[in-house]
Amino acid sequence: MKLNIALLAGDGIGPEVIDQAVKVCDAVAKKFNHEISWTSALTGACAIDAVGEPYPDATHEVCMAADAILFGAIGHPKYDNDPKAPVRPEQGLLKMRKKLGLFANVRPTFTFPSLIDNSPLKRERIEGTDLIILRELTGGIYFGERGRKDNGNTAFDTCTYTRDEITRLAKIGFEMAMTRSKKLCCVDKANVLESSRLWRETVQDMEKDYPEVTVSYEFVDAVAMRLVQWPNTYDVMITENLFGDILTDEASVISGSMGLMPSASIGLHTSLFEPIHGSYPQAAGKDIANPLATVLSAAMMFEDAFGLKEEAELIRQVVNKSLAEGIVTEDLSGKNKAYKTSEVGDWLAKNI
Ligand code: IPM
Ligand code: MN
Repeated sequence: MKLNIALLAGDGIGPEVIDQAVKVCDAVAKKFNHEISWTSALTGACAIDAVGEPYPDATHEVCMAADAILFGAIGHPKYDNDPKAPVRPEQGLLKMRKKLGLFANVRPTFTFPSLIDNSPLKRERIEGTDLIILRELTGGIYFGERGRKDNGNTAFDTCTYTRDEITRLAKIGFEMAMTRSKKLCCVDKANVLESSRLWRETVQDMEKDYPEVTVSYEFVDAVAMRLVQWPNTYDVMITENLFGDILTDEASVISGSMGLMPSASIGLHTSLFEPIHGSYPQAAGKDIANPLATVLSAAMMFEDAFGLKEEAELIRQVVNKSLAEGIVTEDLSGKNKAYKTSEVGDWLAKNI
C-alpha cells in the first residue's frame, strides 16, 4: 500500500520524538511491503520564526494532500509569559484543527502491566483501566466570541454549541461504545450551563438509536474526582472542548508517564495523530524525551487512517516489549539505566 503522510514535527522535543516514530514506521513499511512517502511541513513556533505564521498555507496544503498527518508538539516558552504576543504557536494548532475540520479528538488512557507501579495512583485503583475520552475539538469556548470591554478591564469568552456539532461528536462516541463495552458517559455541567443542557438533551435524544448502549450523565467536577478514584469504571466518555482538555491531561498521568499516551483527531478532512504531551522545551535537543506516545500515535495512524491492524498491533507489541525489558527513557527508568530517545527508537525499529 502507498501511504502518503504529512510530517509536522513542530517545536521542542517534537522533532526528536517524530524521528523515532519515522524509524518505526519505515521498519513496519519494509516488513509489510508498504511504501511511505513523508512530506515535512512547518508548524508552531518554528513556523512563526521562518514565515511569521504558526500554520502557514503551504503547511495546510501539505496536510490536505496527505492521507494522514503525524504531528509532534508545538509551543515555546518565549510566548508563555507574554500574554500580549501578537502571534502564538498554539494559534497554529487551533487554526489547523478548524481548517481540517478535526472535530473529534480521541484520547485513550490505558495501563501497561509492567508500569503499574509508576502510576501516582495505587495499583488496585488503576488495574484494568482502558478508557477513551472523546473530546469535541472545534467548538465551545475555544472558538466562541471573546473580547474586552470597559477599557480592557473586563474580559469575556463565550461557549457556544449547536445541536449538529454535539450530534456528530456523540455519534462517534456511540459507535465507539458499540465496539467496546457499550457504555457511554456524557460529561457536562448541565446543572449550571445552558450549553451543557443542550449536550445532555441531544445525547438523550440519540439514545433510542443505540438501544444497546447504556448512557450515564455525569457532572464534570464529579468526573474529575472519580477519574482518580476509579478510572477503571469508565469506558467511552464524550465531552466538550475545554472539559476534555482538562480531563485528558488528568487521565494521561494514570498510566505512569505523560510520555506514553497517543491521540487521534478526526473529522472532515485528513486525520491527525499526535502524542498527548506538549513540547517539553526543557528537554529539547537533549535526546532524553520519551518517544513512545508518538510511536503509539503512529500505531493509531496505521489502524485508523489506513485500516492496517496487524501493523498497528506489531508496533504495540514491540512497545510493550521495550517496557518489559527496560529499554526506556529516564522518565521511566527509575534506578536502572536510562536509554536515549534515539536509542529507544533504534531498538524499536530493530525489533519490528
Ligand atoms: C491540547 C493542548 C492545546 C489545547 C493547546 C496547546 C492549545 O493543551 O492539545 O490539549 O488546549 O487544546
Ligand atoms: Mn491540553
